[in-house]
Formats: sequence, structure tokens, C-alpha cells
Amino acid sequence: MVRRMRTAALVLAAGRGERLGSALPKAFVPLAGRSLLARSLEALASVPEIDLVVPVVAVEALDRFAALAAERAGIPKLAAPVPGGRERQDSMAAGLAALPSDVGWVAVHDAARPLVRARDVSRVIAAARATGAALLVTPVTDTVKRVRGGVVLETPDRAECFAAQTPQVFRAELLREALEKARAEGVLATDDAQLVERLGVAVHAVEGDPSNRKITRPEDLAWAELELARRAAGEGGRT
Ligand code: CTP
Ligand code: MG
Repeated sequence: MVRRMRTAALVLAAGRGERLGSALPKAFVPLAGRSLLARSLEALASVPEIDLVVPVVAVEALDRFAALAAERAGIPKLAAPVPGGRERQDSMAAGLAALPSDVGWVAVHDAARPLVRARDVSRVIAAARATGAALLVTPVTDTVKRVRGGVVLETPDRAECFAAQTPQVFRAELLREALEKARAEGVLATDDAQLVERLGVAVHAVEGDPSNRKITRPEDLAWAELELARRAAGEGGRT
């Protein structure tokens, strides 16, 4: 009998949050009374297709995470935290290496995107299961320029330009292979799909929601508070 392969979410929370400029590591910064990390873990745990949720936390922040008993208590499917690495890609690799062997699908998510909707996570998982690799994107509204040294190199057709979000979902074997190739070639990427694209494998883009915004600067946090209030008031309050 073939055992069902489980789907894991890796929640990357080992960054420092320099651009946010808070005294706390970014993942521990509260948003309306609950940390970004707890909100992200909870959002992924609420997705029926996800079997386990693995936080990747900076070594220096493991004690802080352990102390958040009350925040963790309400989150089902939560696995033990994995210590992250220097760069985001190192944190992803650490999480991937720590997954149990019956995990066949991996959804990589930024803890810095606490407002992702369960429905969109389910949609991107379905696309990945059908094809091997998928990510959430949103169309850009500004025209995008490639600039080097202050000079425009090119203007890609805006209709073909999308901003990459997370989760990004892959067959676990495919992500391992992509990571190995990147390591061998000294490539460090800002998202996981890039690594898979470099294998020449098609990554499918699923249009997500602009409210799955990454909390990067203080104004993003202020915006997220308003968005939560809007959701609580029932305006677009779907999950
Ligand atoms: N991340 C991680 N390990 C790292 C760096 C980043 O797990 N070594 C995670 C962050 O915790 C975050 C996500 O990757 O959830 C996206 O990164 P980013 O928004 O850049 O967060 P930070 O690196 O924390 O912020 P900054 O770049 O402003 O320092
Ligand atoms: Mg960063």
C-alpha cells in the first residue's frame, strides 16, 4: 500500500527585521496583540490540506519562542521549531532538512505575511499538486523598469509583471534538487520559486490577494492593523 504523502508548511521567521526597525525580531512584533509569527502559523494551520506547520526561528530567538506558550497553545499541527540560518535561503534549507520523510509537499511561507487567507493557500496547493510547483502572485500596478547604475536597461511588458508572494508550494523532491543546484552554483535567491525556475521546471502562478502583503517597513504594520479592523468589521471579511 502506498502511504499518503503529507503536506508541510515551513514558516520562515529567522530574519532580523532591520527595515522594520523594531527592538524585537520582526516575527515577534505584535500586530493587534498577536505576533506576526503566531498569526502566520495559525493561518497555515487553518488550511485543511496542510498536515504540519514548522516554524523556522533564529537560534537566538528559540527561547523567546518557547516562552510564547500561550500564543502557541491555540495552534494545531504545530511541529517543533527549527533553527534558521544567515540568509532566508539558509533558513528554508534548514526547515526542509528537518521535515519527516513522509512529507511529499512543502509550502514555504514568510512569517512576515500574517494576513494570508486560507482559501488562497488552498488554491496554490491545488495548483502545485497538479503541476509540481506553484506560487501566489499579484499583478503590479506600476510600470516596472530594470535599472542598473541609475540607467534603465529595459521596460518589461507590464501585463507580464507580477509580484511574488508566499506561500510557494513544491514537490519536496523538486525543492531539494533545486536547492542542491543553487548551492553547487553559489546562487542565493530572494524567493524559493527562483531556485526551481533555474532547473528549467515550470512554476505556475496563481493570482492571490494584495492583502497578503509582506510586513517590511513600519507603514506596512500600520496598514495591517487597518486591514484587520476592516476584516473584523466584515468588509471583505472572507477567510
Ligand atoms: N528570513 C529567515 N531567515 C533569514 C532571513 C529572513 O527566515 N536569515 C525570513 C524572515 O523572518 C521573513 C521572510 O524570511 O519572514 C522574508 O524576509 P524579510 O521580509 O526580508 O524579513 P527580514 O529579513 O527579517 O527583514 P529585513 O530584510 O528588513 O532585515
Ligand atoms: Mg531580509
